[in-house]
Amino acid sequence: MTEASLRQACDLILFGACGDLSTKKLLPALYQLEKSNLLHPQTRIIAIDRQTLSEDAFIDFTCTQISLSIKEKIDRDTFEQLQAKLHYLNMNLTEPNDYLQLKNICDPAIRRPISYFATPPTLFGVICQGISIAGLAVPSARVVMEKPIGHDLNSSIQIHNKIAQYFTEDQIYRIDHYLGKDTVLNLLVLRFANTIFMSLWDHHAIDQVQITVAEELGVAGRWDYYDQAGQVADMLQNHLLQILSCIAMEPPGSLDAASIRHEKLKVLKALRPITHTNVQNNTVRGQYIGGSVHGETVPGYLEEKGGKLASQTETFVAVEVNIDNWRWYGVPFYLRTGKRMLKKHSEVVIYFKPQRHHIFKPGNPHLAQNKLVIRLQPNEGVEIHIMNKLPELKQEMCLQQTGLNVSFNETFKTARIADAYERLLLEVMLGRQYLFVSREEVEHAWLWVDGLLNAWRNDSTPLHTYQAGTWGPISADTLLTRTGRSWNEPS
Ligand code: BG6
Repeated sequence: MTEASLRQACDLILFGACGDLSTKKLLPALYQLEKSNLLHPQTRIIAIDRQTLSEDAFIDFTCTQISLSIKEKIDRDTFEQLQAKLHYLNMNLTEPNDYLQLKNICDPAIRRPISYFATPPTLFGVICQGISIAGLAVPSARVVMEKPIGHDLNSSIQIHNKIAQYFTEDQIYRIDHYLGKDTVLNLLVLRFANTIFMSLWDHHAIDQVQITVAEELGVAGRWDYYDQAGQVADMLQNHLLQILSCIAMEPPGSLDAASIRHEKLKVLKALRPITHTNVQNNTVRGQYIGGSVHGETVPGYLEEKGGKLASQTETFVAVEVNIDNWRWYGVPFYLRTGKRMLKKHSEVVIYFKPQRHHIFKPGNPHLAQNKLVIRLQPNEGVEIHIMNKLPELKQEMCLQQTGLNVSFNETFKTARIADAYERLLLEVMLGRQYLFVSREEVEHAWLWVDGLLNAWRNDSTPLHTYQAGTWGPISADTLLTRTGRSWNEPS
């Protein structure tokens, strides 16, 4: 029996079907799932948007968008199978009567209703109400929603409260797409399937942890959304804190959602707050100015399409995070993320404590530290840096740090690493929540981030500029160099 035949057919109702997320990520992911035969034959995709389109026009549009996204020739047979599942409805999401259209075509007794909110979070409440009007807020229903859920703790609580009027926690799937990336999942495997790391994973052996999520892209095309959010709400509050939680959590009892979420939540609760007393020392905020990325001249943040000259929104943030628990006592976690940086590069680097006693070069305390580099994207893989003797005949042994490298592409000879949304859509259909974020996690992440943003508001933490195409403001380096450390130089 294939995996597909094990699952119940569903009506995947896609709110915001013509939007960016849907066209760039969700529809291509559904195409790939179809290609892998992972969609139930009776499953339907009910695409909803406010644009007045005929079903044929939507199908043409979908075909074009998928072709643009998958970077390979679209497979006609696969698309035809997908096309047979696609239906389009034109709806005004704020008009309750419009949802009655769904009542006419969906029967929850035949197909499980799964509603995906690819819309701004301000619409989540009204969509839940509409689903209920359509008779689809039944116990078997599931709802899937994108970050950011709110713009601070209070707004997040309000949105959650509205959703909770219609759905219980076990029906709600909150997406943080980083949790669907193979390499982020591999963090769990690396930690909990390899005994060699178990006894090394705490303050006894680890000196510092660095998490970098750098993007080449600017914010053109999304200036209005981004200027409200900034890099802290767009990336730090969710993706970086989730990666940090996966690295720092205690071993969960099992892979089930309750165990994993419970352990991640404990980490978020243990984050030392950023307040006016440590904000200057522990954080750096930046905004890009014009520069060049891969030889191409690019505008500064304020000159991007739709940009306004007075904005003080950060497009870069670096922060020293401390986790106040036994395991991580005294181990700084350095997080940095920004737009328009030198290259797209995300990694986690674990630095182990230096040798205390040197026999190879007595008197030279600067032997390189061992480090474990987990490359999240691109060139996904894991590398352990260890000291080796150079094979040469000299009176004194010469040492050099070299890497033991597992490159996913080469090692697993994989033609394609699945996009995070393929994994996450599959998990929703399977009803497994362990890769989705709980309400408590979202709220605790906001609580910590609110502290940081309030401290910035009430303080004179400067907004540094950095040239597009660099690793961010110089002061992000100072955050580390003041303790004799430096950011890992990606190879
Ligand atoms: C999204 C952010 O959540 O993640 C975007 O809103 C960002 O601003 C994107 O560009 C990065 O995702 P990825 O998978 O390309 O690293």
